[in-house]
Amino acid sequence: MYRTKTCGELRGKNHGSEVTLSGWVDSYRDHSGVLFIDLRDRYGKTQVVFSSKIGEKDFEIAKSLRMEDVIQVAGIVTPRPEGTANLKIETGEIEVSATALKVLNKANNPPFLPTGFDIPSEETRLKYRYLDLRRPEMQQTLVLRHKIVKIMRDYFDENHFVEIETPMLGKSTPEGARDYLVPSRVSQGCFYALPQSPQIYKQILMIAGFDRYFQVARCFRDEDLRADRQPEFTQLDVEMSFVEMEDIITIMDGLVARLCKEIRGENLTLPIPRMTYDEAMERFGHDSPDLRFGMELIDVTDLAKESEFRVFKEPATNGGRVRGINVKNAADNYSRKDIDELTEFAKAFGAKGLAWFKVDADRKLGSPIAKNFDESLLRRIAERLDAEPNDILFFCCDTFDVTCRVLNALRRKFAADLKLYDPSRLNISWVIQFPMFARDEENGGWTAMHHPFTAPLADDLPILKTDTAKVRAQAYDLVINGFEAGGGTIRIHDTQLQADVFSLIGLSEETARSQFGFLLDALKMGAPPHGGIALGLDRLVMLFAGLDNIRDCIAFPKTAKAACLMTNAPDVVSKKQLDELAIRSTVAAKSDSSYF
Ligand code: AMO
Ligand code: AMP
Repeated sequence: MYRTKTCGELRGKNHGSEVTLSGWVDSYRDHSGVLFIDLRDRYGKTQVVFSSKIGEKDFEIAKSLRMEDVIQVAGIVTPRPEGTANLKIETGEIEVSATALKVLNKANNPPFLPTGFDIPSEETRLKYRYLDLRRPEMQQTLVLRHKIVKIMRDYFDENHFVEIETPMLGKSTPEGARDYLVPSRVSQGCFYALPQSPQIYKQILMIAGFDRYFQVARCFRDEDLRADRQPEFTQLDVEMSFVEMEDIITIMDGLVARLCKEIRGENLTLPIPRMTYDEAMERFGHDSPDLRFGMELIDVTDLAKESEFRVFKEPATNGGRVRGINVKNAADNYSRKDIDELTEFAKAFGAKGLAWFKVDADRKLGSPIAKNFDESLLRRIAERLDAEPNDILFFCCDTFDVTCRVLNALRRKFAADLKLYDPSRLNISWVIQFPMFARDEENGGWTAMHHPFTAPLADDLPILKTDTAKVRAQAYDLVINGFEAGGGTIRIHDTQLQADVFSLIGLSEETARSQFGFLLDALKMGAPPHGGIALGLDRLVMLFAGLDNIRDCIAFPKTAKAACLMTNAPDVVSKKQLDELAIRSTVAAKSDSSYF
């Protein structure tokens, strides 16, 4: 037997017992002929003491141990000598006096130590992921991920959902990203697409009568990556029949409350608050608003029209918007140079400039541009933004979309820089009633804002074709701390409406048939009203673990260039493999192992 106990479980009460432990050498100290080793496994660390009592041969072996060697130790549990207990670790009252030692495997000198003080660069961590995953923080996060999935499975099982697997090798599904393609050997020239989500299959499962489905589903999207996106990620995917938005939100509220309770010991007040998309954009400039702090966007377009400030006045009278935020009690924090940097920051999000006012002790607004506003106008701007001494106000004048983008970015930046929220807290809300369509920037037509199977709000059906921009969808996103943690919709279950939506987004009948003919046929064979949602598991783990990087929540993640630094995937393959698939590349293959 390799072990009778783990390295995390011995306590004072085990005093005197004989135990065998196995694990990794975590630290090594030689105190005048007595060797102290911290032995580590997933459960913790135990101090092991080697003295000459162990016998000359084993003592020599103990002296030759190196960090990360894998060893087996037998010994007696003994209280640590008076004054040497370490109350910071759970096994800190005891040590194991070794009576026998066996080296199970030697380790080469590792490029970094899993419990060392210095965390190496992410590049090194990803390259030697097996060492990185030995870090207790990484193990805790992956155990947390396991617990979240387990709670979800239990919850859905209790609520009569059935877990069903859907294919990895399938047809392209339209979630808006590029597909990862897999060439077929038997049908040369044809390709499978890896699923961007199980969307179509889960709808078909509703048509098949499963009523309540869920799946811990792998999804693949070839899109530009960011800190909260991976090319390969996991959804907690859900679909239900005979439901309205209310039913789905209620089920998901229950799940989120259960997660808060079981993972964080917190009682979440239900229902989770909701806000419409329009309100989110108006008040916060983003469809996943960070509600952990205020600093709402305030419109002053009407006041800007009255000013003599050319930069504001003209756009404000021609359909543009002037909106601002008030960064409370922070005027002292920002010098002219800082404001120049903020202006550059705003420009990166599309701003043409950044207007600002500092509020003096008499609540008067001061700024190089103040001369363009008469006193009463300045007073009304100050009142509108609730300006108090030492506040600093920032304004952006542009189209509604640009003011949203710029002020959302500034708002988040100020909150992070000025530490305006408690990073350990979770703020959870729903954003509902998204627009059904967005402008397709490439061809000027319409695209589906969520996906084209989304049902419009019944109230907006009459304007579907006449006032398309205004049509709202039966769509809902779960937002946590300013991140989109999940999103879903009620689906179209009527073939004619589905055909109308395809046509609005410019899918010809022929293309719709060739891509989704099977779905259109299925919709005609008794499709129940249905809807669903998918939570991004990796993001959920990131948020529940209080991390800010999705890669830390995935055992083997990819870099921003969608590469795995440990295995060097994607990589070149043999000519034979390509020949079998009848594939020839038009460029010389290059495997890129750089990080970003
Ligand atoms: P959607 O595209 O909104 O909806 O995805 C659902 C959730 O999945 C997560 N997510 C991602 N996580 C990590 N990396 C990515 N690249 C990534 N892309 C998305 C997000 C997101 O909220 N089929 C629909 C769901 C439905 O309508 O039922 C869908 O996939 O947290
Ligand atoms: P200018 O007259 O272009 O020198 O601009 C005067 C001030 O207004 C500068 O602080 C600019 O950063 C700012 N500014 C210029 N354009 C805009 C805009 N569209 N929105 C907000 N501030 C602006």
